[in-house]
Amino acid sequence: MLELRDICFTIEKDGHEVNLLDKISLKVPSGHFMAVVGPSGCGKTTLMKIISGLLLETEGEVWWKGADLSEDGEMLPNELGYVPQFSIAYDHLTVEECVEHAIRLRVGSVSGSALEELADNVIQQVGMETMREKRVKVLSGGQKRRLGLGLELVTNPKLLLCDEVTSGLDPQSEREIVNLMHQLSLKQGRMVMNITHSLANLELYDSVLVLHEGRMVFHGPPDALSHYFSVQHVEDVYLTLKKRAADAWQGSWSKYRNEYDALIQKRQANRRESEPNAAATESDAKSNSDEDTDLPPESPDNDDNLPGFFRQFWVLLSRRWLLFFRDRTQVFLQLALMLIFPLLVVIFAPGGIEAFPDQAPDPSLDFLEQARATAEVVTKQTKIGALVSGLMMFQVVLLALMGSNNAAREIAGERLIYEKERLGGVRPFSYLLSKIFFLGTLILAQSLWMGIFVQMFCNLPGDIVARFQLLIMINAAMTFVCLGISAAMKSADQASLLSIYLVGFQLPLSGAVLRMPSWLEPVTQPLIAAYWSWSGQLQALSGEKVALGIKSASPTYPFPTVETATVILAFHVIIGLIVAYGFCKRRLWD
Ligand SMILES: Nc1ncnc2c1ncn2[C@@H]1O[C@H](COP(=O)(O)OP(=O)(O)OP(=O)(O)O)[C@@H](O)[C@H]1O
Ligand SMILES: [Mg+2]
Repeated sequence: MLELRDICFTIEKDGHEVNLLDKISLKVPSGHFMAVVGPSGCGKTTLMKIISGLLLETEGEVWWKGADLSEDGEMLPNELGYVPQFSIAYDHLTVEECVEHAIRLRVGSVSGSALEELADNVIQQVGMETMREKRVKVLSGGQKRRLGLGLELVTNPKLLLCDEVTSGLDPQSEREIVNLMHQLSLKQGRMVMNITHSLANLELYDSVLVLHEGRMVFHGPPDALSHYFSVQHVEDVYLTLKKRAADAWQGSWSKYRNEYDALIQKRQANRRESEPNAAATESDAKSNSDEDTDLPPESPDNDDNLPGFFRQFWVLLSRRWLLFFRDRTQVFLQLALMLIFPLLVVIFAPGGIEAFPDQAPDPSLDFLEQARATAEVVTKQTKIGALVSGLMMFQVVLLALMGSNNAAREIAGERLIYEKERLGGVRPFSYLLSKIFFLGTLILAQSLWMGIFVQMFCNLPGDIVARFQLLIMINAAMTFVCLGISAAMKSADQASLLSIYLVGFQLPLSGAVLRMPSWLEPVTQPLIAAYWSWSGQLQALSGEKVALGIKSASPTYPFPTVETATVILAFHVIIGLIVAYGFCKRRLWD
């Protein structure tokens, strides 16, 4: 049983309090199928969010199975299914893969053949047997809604909230989906609440809740709707609502509500009697499913049945790799960047680095010639120093660019799917760890290949280990800072734009081209990852002859040690991850 007691939801707008929901009180028995209707902006979605725990009511109480959720915490993820209007599946997965992943992420105790049976059962319940091998991107709108419902059925939820799952469908598909929801409410005492604008197919529901400007103005059997609003066709209800103020409708409703509650109960009892497979209560539901040997098994009816942290991590990581390889464009782009970027670097020193000339001029020459020879040597030394420094900066900037490309869309691009899965019990830390492992592999592959390729062609002097370490660190710093940005932004485009700006600032602010004004340098330098990777690599050359040329070529000499540079870049990684985790824990549903 779900009960709402005087639910209010108030927000501040232009200094005034606005009541988006006002004293909504409602009792919904198990196995009930309810339509929530009302004009756009009347608060339907807000009400659903309060029931599901996505929003906290300002006043009032939500009671679920005899417990006050505002006191005793949220509904368990396994008890609740929330089907939003938007598509919540990855385009590159098949229907079957989506269902199987949903089971692996949300249902702890099934594996092997039980998992396959459960997936079959879910696919059969939503009538998608013939399209199980189809990829999500080729499904029609109605088929995607079916899949959305199916993904929620994997935990066998007691409450299914559906937000406009029939919007935009043709009348035939709409009826099919409403019929499907109706069937789902008949099984296992499941309560199904469906938000809809449409007043078609109302006869399939047990009750209709009408909201108007945040007020509850009717909740009764569908066949009583036209009588209550004194209209000939239910379609005219919206027009009639406009004729009186919402407060007046609310006032009238409070006088009649008890009468209609009794009618609803009568209607639901009748419906159950006429449906042989219907389960009237939760206990009936259990015995029904036990007896019904023809049906494949439902998921275990266990309240605390979430998979463990590592299982979720592993499923998320393997799914990420599957998605990566399925998306040919992504694979092609990654390979292209990995191959082309090192080529861009070696173009500047195709024959490698010239031998570094000594400064001591030939003593047999006269004074003027000695001075000219010295000047020539110094010029050459500076040129070689500038080339080495430039090659290192170029590698650093390209790896920074790869880092931003790795991560900018990683979370923002799938935020709604993540939010949905999180509501279903996916732990933010399992999710973040899967991203760290996935991106970590890309970082290692990109940075090591860049280092090896450039070394093969340019034969740069100095400590290779220190250089590779700092190449990996610049990529990691930029990747994880951009992952933080990706987690904080609402859209993938915003995250990409911000990440590209971040890379764009690396070169001018690194000091490799021009030194920053001395008062600004202490402020900007710690933030510019490219500076640390580049100058740390140059410092690693301090024992080499070329260091002389680099010193005279670089505006920012002296350089930090490799250790300092590594530690600062590690800070960038840590800060990026903390931001990413913080924003993965926050709900960014809309
Ligand atoms: N977090 C919020 N802050 C400010 N206003 C909000 C917020 N959430 C919703 N609203 C406003 O509250 C009202 C109710 O929104 P809600 O999304 O619940 O309406 P709805 O009935 O679902 O509408 P629709 O049928 O268009 O989906 C709208 O006017 C909306 O602009
Ligand atoms: Mg809505």
